[in-house]
Amino acid sequence: MRPADWAAWLEMARLLLHPPALFHHLHGLDWYRHALWEALRLAPADLAATSCLEIGCATGDFCGGLAAQGARVHGIDRSPDMVRRARQAHPGVRFTEADALALPFGESGFDIVYAASLLNVVDDPVRVLREMARVCRPAGVLVILVPVEGFGTAQARRWTAAQALSPREAAAYMAWHRLARKIPAARLQQWVDEAGIGHARVQAWPLLGGMVQAAHVRLMADGQRPQGTPWPDAAQQAPQNGTITASSWV
Ligand SMILES: C[S@@+](CC[C@H](N)C(=O)[O-])C[C@H]1O[C@@H](n2cnc3c(N)ncnc32)[C@H](O)[C@@H]1O
Repeated sequence: MRPADWAAWLEMARLLLHPPALFHHLHGLDWYRHALWEALRLAPADLAATSCLEIGCATGDFCGGLAAQGARVHGIDRSPDMVRRARQAHPGVRFTEADALALPFGESGFDIVYAASLLNVVDDPVRVLREMARVCRPAGVLVILVPVEGFGTAQARRWTAAQALSPREAAAYMAWHRLARKIPAARLQQWVDEAGIGHARVQAWPLLGGMVQAAHVRLMADGQRPQGTPWPDAAQQAPQNGTITASSWV
């Protein structure tokens, strides 16, 4: 193994021992930010004056990116340490220490409610989905990203090689792959059905070579598709790897 590979593996071991450091580190990497933005699938212009809530925001870096695009953003995390770090790093964004199981907001206050790598770690994902839907306005959208069960280490290695990631970036991807609690691809639809939210099936698509699934759950008033909805129809779009870039948005 080359010295650069050794250094990357040592870094991966350090990150695996300290998950908060892992997520802060991931937010600094293009492929990770790219996936978070691809899950959103909105043009920056659509974000101006949009109200967004991120649940499980960790160090608040994605919230900071949304705010930079003109969105009104609120991030919550149940970890006091994460909320402290987020406030320090992004003083212009509102952060609150709160539990996703009981969100401290009234009904219908947000256009977008975003949760990345959260539903796969909480005790009661159905209750969290109900809370997300409660605080999201009718015709708003829940944006979800979850790591998917069945994605193996060989696939992960193929993807990092195909993307020609540096040893350091590949090590971070492998660390996340090893650390993440994963769920079966069909589980999200079951949870949405159980929660009794949304009017239609979950629209989901793979990202990062299939390691994670992104999904939109639209909340429709009276089962109707609203006129002039700004949301692109994820089901009719091919996966867009490469067409939306984090660097062009953030
Ligand atoms: C795996 S990290 C994901 C961080 C970030 N969303 C991302 O994708 O990079 C999960 C975050 O959710 C927070 N979290 C876990 N359970 C939570 C809950 N019940 N309510 C609020 N936050 C929670 C953790 O403190 C952690 O910061």
